[in-house]
Amino acid sequence: MKTSSLFGGAAGLFDPAAFSEDLHPRELRNVFGRCWLFLGLDSTIPKKYDYFTTYMGEDSVIVQRDSKDRIRVYLNRCPHRGSALCVFDSGSAKAFTCAYHGWTFTDGELTGVPYRREAYQNELDLSAHSLYEVPKVKVYGGLVFATWDANAKPLEEFLGDAKWYLDTFLIREEMGGLEGVPSPQRYIMPVNWKLLAENFAGDDYHFEFTHQAVVQAMSRGKDDRLKHRPDKVRSFSVAANHRSGPPHGFLELRVSDEPFKIDLAHARALGADCAEWVEERQRRLEEKLAVFALKPYSFHIGNIFPNLALIGIGSATYAKGLIQHHPRGSNVTEVWVWAAVEKSAPQALKDRQKFVLMQRQAAAGIVAPDDHEIFQRIAPNLRAEESKRRPLLYNMALKDDERETSPPEFASGPRWPGKILPQFSEVIQRDFYRYWAELMDREI
Ligand code: FES
Ligand code: FE
Repeated sequence: MKTSSLFGGAAGLFDPAAFSEDLHPRELRNVFGRCWLFLGLDSTIPKKYDYFTTYMGEDSVIVQRDSKDRIRVYLNRCPHRGSALCVFDSGSAKAFTCAYHGWTFTDGELTGVPYRREAYQNELDLSAHSLYEVPKVKVYGGLVFATWDANAKPLEEFLGDAKWYLDTFLIREEMGGLEGVPSPQRYIMPVNWKLLAENFAGDDYHFEFTHQAVVQAMSRGKDDRLKHRPDKVRSFSVAANHRSGPPHGFLELRVSDEPFKIDLAHARALGADCAEWVEERQRRLEEKLAVFALKPYSFHIGNIFPNLALIGIGSATYAKGLIQHHPRGSNVTEVWVWAAVEKSAPQALKDRQKFVLMQRQAAAGIVAPDDHEIFQRIAPNLRAEESKRRPLLYNMALKDDERETSPPEFASGPRWPGKILPQFSEVIQRDFYRYWAELMDREI
């Protein structure tokens, strides 16, 4: 059966079988084995031999800065009998020694074998047993990406329209770039990774209902420190590479100086240096956006296909949340929340950025658990006998798939890259699953 047949084409009806266990091995091979995947931040491994471990799909990998200062990625698997080589989250190691028979690897090469003469009569060719290495690694604005596909197109091409959004609102080289906070927060969700990814990619529709408690707390105005989302501000969504490549999505592009004013008020409370930095940052952003009639302050949420979710992007008082949704079987996702702050920001503002991200997006934050509850209400219904035979609806504004650009404000003049959409749309989610099915149906 073709995976693409799970999607009811023009009607926008999706078959819950897209989340089934049967498809999972193919998903690991065709999606996670072929796409560029985000692995972490290079600033968390600043010195030679520094490393961290993470996952590509369900494969554990070691990301290390080697003796020549190059970032390399190895399968965390001893080539001898398959034991995990490194059991730590991060650290510094000139060599990794396997705990089973003691083989030792330096810069990925096998450099030590116990009893080599006695056990192997000196006939073991060390050069034939290096660690399995991920063939393509690229650091982009401090973000480490890698792919198992040796023939993959360059990362810049994979990002396509998304590049402008990452450069302008996330990486901000003009302000000195990103500083990664070591060690992501991790937790397990008993749901398929796609439910989380598609939510970040394209679901601004849920916010006011799922997150009612936060919305109410903000609107009561008892504590201004909670306020980050301005009321009644024109907001757009963007489908990057619409029907032309990897579907990355960006939400809550707020066109107004309200979000800036809120940030500035928070910064003033922290000190004059923080306020000055926020003003300078805004001046530089406006310079970059000078050609556009509508100038977004940020995008707040997004997803780089397949499993890098983004949150808090653009606000000067919110750390950038870079969230990996690692699959663990078809019905479990390991969520890793990395944080990055802006290198040049005053320390008080960096501290504030980290606090705000965790206050909202930590496993026990005031926002993320709302979503977790919903995903866990959906997950059993994707498997239960009668329930799984009924379609899921992704049919909001189907005509927007074809329309050149929807919001009339963009009728003339330079536009932001990608397909600009109204705030509420399911175009990005349809793009997500269409492309996913395309990858799944490829013969590899
Ligand atoms: Fe690693 Fe044998 S499994 S040395
Ligand atoms: Fe949410």
